[in-house]
Amino acid sequence: MVVGMGAVATTLIAGVEAVRKGLAKPIGSLTQMGTIRLGKRTDGKTPLIKDFVPLASLDDVVFTGWDIFPENMYEAARHASVLDGDHLQTIRPFLESIEPMPAVFDQNYVKRLHGTHVKKGRSKCDLAQQVRSDIQAFKEKCDRVVMIWTGSTEIFLEPTPIHDTIEAFEKALTEDDPAIAPSQIYAYAALKEGIPFANGAPNLTVDLPCMIELSKQTGAPICGKDFKTGQTFMKTVLAPALKARMLGLSGWFSTNILGNRDGEVLDDPSSFKTKEESKLGVIDYILQPQLYPDLYKDIYHKVRINYYPPRGDNKEGWDNIDIFGWLGYPMQIKVDFLCRDSILAAPLALDLVLFLDMAKRSPELRNLGIQEWLSFYFKSPQVAPGLYPEHDLFIQMMKLKNTLRHIQGEELITHLGLEYYD
Ligand SMILES: NC(=O)c1ccc[n+]([C@@H]2O[C@H](COP(=O)([O-])OP(=O)(O)OC[C@H]3O[C@@H](n4cnc5c(N)ncnc54)[C@H](O)[C@@H]3O)[C@@H](O)[C@H]2O)c1
Repeated sequence: MVVGMGAVATTLIAGVEAVRKGLAKPIGSLTQMGTIRLGKRTDGKTPLIKDFVPLASLDDVVFTGWDIFPENMYEAARHASVLDGDHLQTIRPFLESIEPMPAVFDQNYVKRLHGTHVKKGRSKCDLAQQVRSDIQAFKEKCDRVVMIWTGSTEIFLEPTPIHDTIEAFEKALTEDDPAIAPSQIYAYAALKEGIPFANGAPNLTVDLPCMIELSKQTGAPICGKDFKTGQTFMKTVLAPALKARMLGLSGWFSTNILGNRDGEVLDDPSSFKTKEESKLGVIDYILQPQLYPDLYKDIYHKVRINYYPPRGDNKEGWDNIDIFGWLGYPMQIKVDFLCRDSILAAPLALDLVLFLDMAKRSPELRNLGIQEWLSFYFKSPQVAPGLYPEHDLFIQMMKLKNTLRHIQGEELITHLGLEYYD
């Protein structure tokens, strides 16, 4: 169940169908293309991840969802202009068969959008009940359900006391508390129904004490926030490399131009603030200035997103990185990533859905609440209270693969490797 059926969602849904029909390969998806080493390097055991852990097959995946616009998935994909017309034409009937259900929406939380295909309710509690009814109806048609938020970035909100406990949140739902954004209503409904929830946007959504409690209570795994796709993906590769070599950093200036609907939403300062917070945290956590003041204490880090319609979904992200080396001599790195936002995000959304469905069936993962091992996919990984998140992409990948080894009873890989020299 996909909340927000725009660029990422249509690219995901069209892509899965194209792969099923043998028209394309699931490039960028770890669950579909990745392998996992088992045992020693000399053992030669490297199965595909999808053969190693019990993942649902793409052939068994069925899509539905909600959007504030009534367009079917073909029309929405045409609008998003990520995949070209020829590509979409080959799977047009399939895409036309999926129409979004009316959404829970309130323009106060996404200022740039004017939704027309929207549920009406007496209160936020009533709206949550309507989403639960949608989920129950879909459950009749399939064995297992996962919900993923690929909806717009909401305005910047901070947790309030109504988010402290499930009881306080439920009371606030009946009182239409403004601290409850639409994404929280979907998340609450999903968790009440015991279905896992992934958050692809930087909104709070499931990153709240009440949701964590509910997730544990109903055995519905959660993860978020904000798909790690373009610039932040690069940042979490480059920053660990600088730190590994003890190279200093004085400034990191990141700017983006993009022209899709996401760019339009982020043009509003209150939605941009949510995204900015998500993008800014990364460097400090990776570089640990408190441990390395000589290298990282005075970093100037700036992130800009500019709405520039001619580029559509084909974002360009520039990074200017001012570093210094031996004896403090300055150097620079320039990165110009001409990426395609939703082409990078769709495989992440697919992996998250398949892994969450697996987590729901795993006795070891089901009741953990937050699935930190899925940090690999996020700009601001959700972690247990009091923990700092791991942002380094390769630490995240090791954590993910070791979790898979762990739940399948395989030995963890530490890369110590002394045994090869005995
Ligand atoms: N594309 C990427 O690489 C990327 C990376 C990280 C995060 N994200 C985040 O993923 C989200 C989706 O991105 P996108 O490019 O697909 O944007 P998009 O604007 O194309 O799609 C979002 C969709 O959500 C719908 N929507 C908004 N509020 C809704 C609600 N309350 N209920 C149901 N539908 C709602 C909108 O109508 C729209 O169709 C955004 O929050 C974006 O910031 C995207």
